[in-house]
Amino acid sequence: MKIGIDKIGFYTPHIYVDMEKLAEARNIEPAKFTIGIGQSQMAVAPITQDSVTLAANAALEIIDDEDREKIDFVIFGSESGIDHSKSGAVYVHQLLGLNPHARAIEVKQACYGATAGIQMAKGHIALNPDSKVLVLGTDIARYGLNTPGESTQGAGAVAMVISANPKIMVLENPNVYLTNDIMDFWRPIYSDKAFVDGKFSNEQYILFFNKVWEAFKAKSGLELKDMEAICYHLPYTKMGLKALRTVLDEATEDVQERLLENYQVSTLYNRNVGNIYTGSLYLSLLSLLENKDDLQEGNRIGMFSYGSGAVGEFFSGTLQPNFKQYLNIDGHRSLFNARKEVSIEEYEKIFEETLPTDGTDIELDINRDPASIVLSGIMDNKRQYVNKKR
Ligand code: CAA
Repeated sequence: MKIGIDKIGFYTPHIYVDMEKLAEARNIEPAKFTIGIGQSQMAVAPITQDSVTLAANAALEIIDDEDREKIDFVIFGSESGIDHSKSGAVYVHQLLGLNPHARAIEVKQACYGATAGIQMAKGHIALNPDSKVLVLGTDIARYGLNTPGESTQGAGAVAMVISANPKIMVLENPNVYLTNDIMDFWRPIYSDKAFVDGKFSNEQYILFFNKVWEAFKAKSGLELKDMEAICYHLPYTKMGLKALRTVLDEATEDVQERLLENYQVSTLYNRNVGNIYTGSLYLSLLSLLENKDDLQEGNRIGMFSYGSGAVGEFFSGTLQPNFKQYLNIDGHRSLFNARKEVSIEEYEKIFEETLPTDGTDIELDINRDPASIVLSGIMDNKRQYVNKKR
């Protein structure tokens, strides 16, 4: 049975910071951010967006009435969860009006959560071929003002419907995965900002890529030449390139050229959004699919997922006939074009504006946020969400 990505949606908040201006404000050479890190703009989450609203907005774009009926499993991959107990998936399930006879859970393993969700979805569809699974990768990356990680922040979500006979990409076997207990990046439950050993995290990312790629080649018999492109988890766009460069000499010059060119296309959206943790790999896939004109049915895309702490996975997928028809290229263009730049002062103010953590009620001004689904406040320790379209 063919199982894979039937639909893919994306949402990022309506405001962003220009990376050259951020560099100037931090007394850093702008080229360090735009070339050294490879980021041009960074999405900023207003207080009315959290991991639930980002995910629900991404899903809203792709869900129709048939999906509402057939989705019987919602998997919320995130490392910016809003509750230690209740899953973000239950809120999204309600906000989208999905069939009550569904499972709804949250999956956590840093940026790997959505990949775990997709693989779980594959198993579910194999057992229940008529059902569909909604997989969400949704996060707000926060390291703190004036920290080395600041330039690698971002906010957004990717939503995917996984089904049998998918319209966009069939997920292939085999997959290769790897776990090792390391402290490269983590966020203790008392902190709203991540802790990171930056250099170590870069090294481990590459090491994990090399290990899963070697094992994948041995298990699948596939090589670089069999990949039209490789999409990477992108904490910043230079990161995947560093990993790709470590294996390029395995291929002929033609193949190297193709992989490098397609790599650049696969980073276009991420370059202007920043790190969205669980959704980053899938935003990179979306960037490739929506911006590369000559991709063909049957092309194989390699996918490298990395979640600090750490779990990595390499897998692949093949593009389906007329897949372009099922993408929302114009919608995503409009989403990017409608965004507004905020000054560094405004961004800093928004960054510092956090929700109360002492049980106090708060009512938020939802009119300043053009998103369909927003957080309107907290009452009696319960987050209040509004779907303006319902
Ligand atoms: N022009 C061009 N390039 C310049 C430059 C200039 N004027 N000045 C510096 N650079 C280059 C540097 O040479 C360097 O390039 P290379 O890495 O290719 O050598 C690059 O800019 C970055 O410079 P530094 O290494 O000095 O940057 P830094 O130490 O200040 O911070 C970072 C970089 C460690 C990635 C930091 O942003 C960070 O900690 N980020 C968060 C952690 C992270 O994203 N890790 C990635 C792997 S972990 C993961 O993938 C999971 C996840 O999502 C978090």
